[in-house]
Amino acid sequence: MESPPDTPSDSGTDSIEVSDEELVAAAREAAARAYAPYSGFTVRAALVDESGRVFTAANVENSSFGLTICAERAAVCRALAEGAGRLVAVAVACNTPNPVQPCGACRQVLAEFAPRLRVVAAGRGEDFAVVRLDELLPGAFRLDRDA
Ligand code: THU
Repeated sequence: MESPPDTPSDSGTDSIEVSDEELVAAAREAAARAYAPYSGFTVRAALVDESGRVFTAANVENSSFGLTICAERAAVCRALAEGAGRLVAVAVACNTPNPVQPCGACRQVLAEFAPRLRVVAAGRGEDFAVVRLDELLPGAFRLDRDA
């Protein structure tokens, strides 16, 4: 996972060992349970690295609403803490009828480590929406001290 701040790893779709279906299933069945008593909107995320290790998490809300932690960012923290390699894909599973894409803040955080991450979004139904992160967040912020 480790990469210098000015050269985030350019993860893409070239070396995924886990299928979209498996990754969505991992997100849905994650041991990490959502805590969403305020919105009732549960989100579970599963990140996979280049060796096929999967890191799951869910959203954690707070009565001080702004302190809520999104599932995707929780998954990034878990992946880093557990020594993930290059991240190649994320599945985001919501309890909505149709797939929902990661919020802007999560897109930026994911882009720090994997600008070309494969994003697989799922709702309760069988259909997935698959898109690359640089399509969801074109022109992501990067710290360029020479700009
Ligand atoms: N949420 C996520 O977990 N990920 C996102 O990308 C957007 C929103 C959560 C935060 C909050 O608990 C609930 O969804 C409603 O916003």
